[in-house]
Amino acid sequence: MTHSLETFQSSTTGPGRGLPLENTPPLRRFYVETWGCQMNDLDSQRMTGLLMEQGILPTKAVQDADLILLNSCSVREKAAQKAYSRLGEYRLLKRDKPHLLIGFCGCVAQQEGEKALRRVPDLDFVIGPGRVGELTSIVEQRRRQGRRVVATGFPDARERNYEFDALARDGGYKGMVTIIEGCDKKCTFCIVPSTRGPEQSRPMDDILEEVQHLLDYGFVEIELLGQTVNHWKDPQTGDDFAILLDRVARMPGVRRLRFVTSYPRDFTQEMVDQFAVHENLSPYLHLPVQSGSDRVLKLMGRGYQVEQYDDLVRRLRITRPDLALSTDLIVGFPGETEQDFQATLDLVSRTRYSQVYAFKYSPRPGTAAPRLRVPEVPPEESDRRLQALFALQGVIQHELNQELEGRAYDILVTQWGKKAGTQTGRTPCHRLIHFEYGDQPLELGSLARVRVEKGLPHSLLGRLVA
Ligand code: SAH
Ligand code: F3S
Repeated sequence: MTHSLETFQSSTTGPGRGLPLENTPPLRRFYVETWGCQMNDLDSQRMTGLLMEQGILPTKAVQDADLILLNSCSVREKAAQKAYSRLGEYRLLKRDKPHLLIGFCGCVAQQEGEKALRRVPDLDFVIGPGRVGELTSIVEQRRRQGRRVVATGFPDARERNYEFDALARDGGYKGMVTIIEGCDKKCTFCIVPSTRGPEQSRPMDDILEEVQHLLDYGFVEIELLGQTVNHWKDPQTGDDFAILLDRVARMPGVRRLRFVTSYPRDFTQEMVDQFAVHENLSPYLHLPVQSGSDRVLKLMGRGYQVEQYDDLVRRLRITRPDLALSTDLIVGFPGETEQDFQATLDLVSRTRYSQVYAFKYSPRPGTAAPRLRVPEVPPEESDRRLQALFALQGVIQHELNQELEGRAYDILVTQWGKKAGTQTGRTPCHRLIHFEYGDQPLELGSLARVRVEKGLPHSLLGRLVA
């Protein structure tokens, strides 16, 4: 994948557009809108950190912003259309505020590149996920020289600047650390390899340093991130993800350790064993299966069979009986028959996931699935399957949540509740729990002992334990 930096002068984009903005009011506030996965969340945090270092502060009110960043996601459905329509809304704000800057970021921005500048004349710059670290210089170029920069592509890992010091950690409770970028798998439905580039692992030392930094900062929960997080390998030593997990879990101060997203085929027994060794490894695992039918898995190019997945789940549950599993599923994949779909329902019934993220298949540009010579599933049929899947999962999830009634957990306090006097948190198995805090609210990011009083379909109600 090439690394392209192109700039477009104002003259190419119409009168008044792209002129230097030096004599206009300084940038005081920025607004970031983030769609999609955890990598995007982290990229938004990185951009937030970089801007805050420059004294530009975040705002939650878009009309107060002098800089708007749209961090887009291209994984599903009409991604470009959605992004362009949002950019269209934002550019209207320029009528009253000519110095307002609008930046297009994330995976759709990576895909669209300079096309976006042509399509949205008021757009000020485009930054792909591989180039987030250049945000402030790109903003400068726009303001001082009138350049509308398009920064896409994926620089080599060694050139990449993670600038973790500048990171504004969202909510201040969860320390996320990217350990591997991009993806080399070729799942036939997925656009991620083309928007996030080839797989590149970060060196172990870098990762441990960043984790230490987060611990020093006061984080108790560390979450390791990557599209295929368990495929991480130290570029120098070849140490694998099981070794990394072990090293991080042993660091004093790591109260909870999580990681997302694991690729089933790459999940080794050594990785499974870590759940037995480390109590601070959260009993929660997101393990996308996509389908319960071998025929469909093959069409998807996933590289494993249902039996292997079941076996992995079995070994995980023997090792850690309280392990909660979640998954991703696609329904209506080309060629999926009613029988295939039933196999997916069977898998959901026997695996009993604490949460299922299910999506209707949507063809993505440049992927192989649309060219498979198999019959497409009519949209109404996909809708029906999705509803049937949600109905089944709804019952299972409610039952699992009810089974937790009466148990006490150390939960991580993550948010203010919607009702006065309440807060919400996450159990070690990553379930959302609401509780009343009593006299004094608890500090976000702290741990508290809470007993589950009621299991609801999508969350738990609990009570603080003295
Ligand atoms: N490795 C990443 C995959 C990112 S895509 C991860 O597991 O987080 C996230 C999920 O989106 C996938 O697991 C898949 O279930 C869904 N998805 C990806 N491409 C899709 C498509 N073309 N149509 C429908 N769902 C899709
Ligand atoms: Fe996508 Fe498959 Fe990689 S789902 S992110 S190509 S593992």
